[in-house]
Parts: sequence; structure tokens; C-alpha cells
Amino acid sequence: MQTVVPFTDLGAMAREIWPGIEKEFTEALLTGRYIGGEPVAQFERRWAAYCGTTHAVGVANGTDALELTLLALGIGPGDEVVVPSNTFIATAAAVVRAGATPVFTDVDPDTLLLTPQHLTAALTPRTRAVMVVHLYGNIADLAALEAVANTAGIHLIEDAAQAHGAERDGHRAGSRGTAACFSFYPGKNLGALGDAGAVVTSDPALAERIRALANHGRTNGSAHYEHDYIGTNSRLDTLQAIALTAKLDHLDAWTDARIDLAAVYRKRLTGTEVRLTALDDGVRHAYHLMVVRVPDRDKVRQALSHLGIQTGIHYPLPCHSQPPLRRYATGPLPVCEQAAKEQFSLPIYPHMTLDQVDLVCEALIEAVAS
Ligand SMILES: Cc1ncc(COP(=O)(O)O)c(C=O)c1O
Repeated sequence: MQTVVPFTDLGAMAREIWPGIEKEFTEALLTGRYIGGEPVAQFERRWAAYCGTTHAVGVANGTDALELTLLALGIGPGDEVVVPSNTFIATAAAVVRAGATPVFTDVDPDTLLLTPQHLTAALTPRTRAVMVVHLYGNIADLAALEAVANTAGIHLIEDAAQAHGAERDGHRAGSRGTAACFSFYPGKNLGALGDAGAVVTSDPALAERIRALANHGRTNGSAHYEHDYIGTNSRLDTLQAIALTAKLDHLDAWTDARIDLAAVYRKRLTGTEVRLTALDDGVRHAYHLMVVRVPDRDKVRQALSHLGIQTGIHYPLPCHSQPPLRRYATGPLPVCEQAAKEQFSLPIYPHMTLDQVDLVCEALIEAVAS
């Protein structure tokens, strides 16, 4: 079947930035400067400023960003970290890899995000942090979650891997809490040309510790073979930084394009049997994913696929039901479990056309009705 509407189009974004980076990219390539240097420092400065923090530390991917943040905060064995179960496995895996225990919670039935009530119910004397996941590009109620976290004396860590540029009441994803972790996996709203990630924070000591842990435990000023910690190798590559800085110039326009497309999706699908996720007042949803819910998901996806329309599922199994994480499950989480059966993701990307959205909506409405 010929693809009529692809799930995304990374090539279109690359073609848009390539003329602007060709010279710098080629120079870095041919001079062999592949690790660190000014392009990485420049991207870190720009990304911190964009997120409204004082520091950004580039790392190898979003999963490392989460794990290194936990390690740098000294969270490990005996500690609990609250995690909404409706997320990509990396959020919970980072907690397990740090040696701590994930405590899974359910999510709001309309937004499918963590709420202050869920967080409050999950707290115990061993809770050290909460991972607030801004899934799909939507943004959780950070002010309310932060109030709960502050009262409980725990760290609020944002998993903003899907929420570059999302805002709530004028606050950008990444700007609240102890730290926020981003993935620049190619398909993300700000995507690298391979794996990449970053942690943003306004705590300079935390930023330094993450930087050291990500660079074999070298601290600022230590010689190349002097190591103050047992760290790992999780640095942001120079070539990725060049591409990310160039893409950052387009991020707001690309997000606006996603928002415009989503508005058409919402208009066309409201009042049909297709269930949309709720959009709270004051939210700038970054629409990394256009997630809908239908009762007979597999049948509907198949009908779309026959028409050349690609879709995805984010995610088909909640974390607490994943085999390596089942041992941490403490009971059923009905909203997550039901959503996992019904949710799927429609195509949405900056270079998608409104005609393509129309086509998807028509096909979807017909598939749901038949
Ligand atoms: C919500 C969420 N958390 C964490 C990650 C992990 O990021 P990465 O794939 O860059 O390791 C991703 C991306 O895949 C994600 O979507």
C-alpha cells in the first residue's frame, strides 16, 4: 500500500535546516571536532534560555537525562519515585536503573496525565521524587503538582521528552521543579539526527553534578584523566548540537503548525465517537502526538492503513503491566489500562497539510462508524 499520509516527515525538517548548517556541519565534520566544543555549549545556553532555566546539560539521550538526574540527586535504593503508569517505559526504567522503586499511579481519565490527587495518594515516608510526564505534548498541572511536592518535601522532575515548548499559564515545560529531562530522539518535536537529550535546571550544583556524571565523573577543572565520581559516558555530540541549534530556530513555528493541524482535527472529530484528550485552559499543547481513543482500535487502524494512512500506538501497555516492571505494581490502574486498549496516534507533523488532516478525519469517522 502506497503511503498517502505518513506518520511523520523528518526529511522535510532536515531539508529546511540543511542550507543554514551545511557550512558549519561540514567544517566540524572535516576538522574532526566531534565531541563537545562551542556548538554544544551554544546549544546548551540556548536551550536553557528557551526553557526558562539557568542551566542545560546536553546528554546522550532522554533516558540518560532521567537516570542521571536521579543519580545526581542521590536517589537510589530504599527510595520511592512516583511515576504515572501511562508513559514510555524509559520514565520508569530510569528509576529502576537508579536503584529506586517506581510507585505507579493512575492518570486523569480526560487528559491521561498525572494529577495532584494521584500524587498525594501515592506519597509515603520513602517518597523522594515524582516524575511528572507531559505525555503527548500536553502539560500537566505543574503549579498544583509542585505545591504537593513542596509540601511533601520531594523533588519534582519533569519528563518533558514529548513537550518541547509546551506551556501552561505562561510557564514553559521544563521551567518548574528541580529539573526537567528532554529527549531529542529524531521523532521528537525538537529532534536530533540520532539520539540526544538534555537536562535543564536552575540549580547550578545539580547541573555540575549531572555534567560530571555524564562525563566519566570529571568535574569542572579536573584533568582529562582525573575522575571525582564513577560516572558514565553520556555526552551530547557536536554534530547533533549544530543540528539542534538550527532546529531550535524553527521550533516555535513548527509547534504553531502542529497546533493549527490539531485544531482542525479537534473541530472535525468533536461530536463523533472518536474521543479526544482534554485540553485545559491556559495550555499550549505542543502536539508531539495527536492521540485519540476508539473502542475498536485495531479495526480502525487497519482501515486507515488500507488507505495508506500511518498511525502509531503510544502506548499499548501501561508501565505497571510491562513484564520487567510488574513486580512494582501494587494493584489495577483502570484508567491507564483502558487507555492502553483504546488509544492510538494520528499523523501530525509540521509539514503536514490541512488536506491530509481532512483525509485522515474522513477515513477515521467512516472507519469508526462501519
Ligand atoms: C515520555 C518519554 N520519556 C523518556 C523518553 C526517552 O528518551 P530517549 O528515547 O531519548 O532515551 C521518551 C522518548 O522516547 C519519552 O517519550
